[in-house]
Amino acid sequence: MTTTITICDTCKREGWEVEAGEHTDGELLADLIEAAASGTPIKTRRFSCLMGCDRACNVTIQAKGKLNYTLGQFIPSPEAAKAIVAYAVLHAASASGQVPYRDWPQAIKGHFTTRHPPLPESK
Ligand code: FES
Repeated sequence: MTTTITICDTCKREGWEVEAGEHTDGELLADLIEAAASGTPIKTRRFSCLMGCDRACNVTIQAKGKLNYTLGQFIPSPEAAKAIVAYAVLHAASASGQVPYRDWPQAIKGHFTTRHPPLPESK
């Protein structure tokens, strides 16, 4: 099942000022994640507000039938984007969505906010 990264494109980190730039921090992170995911099996999409605003920047990593995760407090950097995509690749390769801690990219450690177990199949 395809793993999708959803990036909040309205996230603004503390100190973001409208005068400082025309793009939100979330838009900048989305640009970087989309570039990092290019050529990988990972899908990306943007969504406005994941309701974790005070932990900006926020993303989710989801696939049907697997554990799904919300991660936050990222700065829009190439290192963060590469780590998020690398983790999503590991999530895609895992049958349950769980990735052993020893395999986590360093730059995602400390960024997990929640995990959601998959919904049971409806009959
Ligand atoms: S604006 Fe990004 S979580 Fe609300």
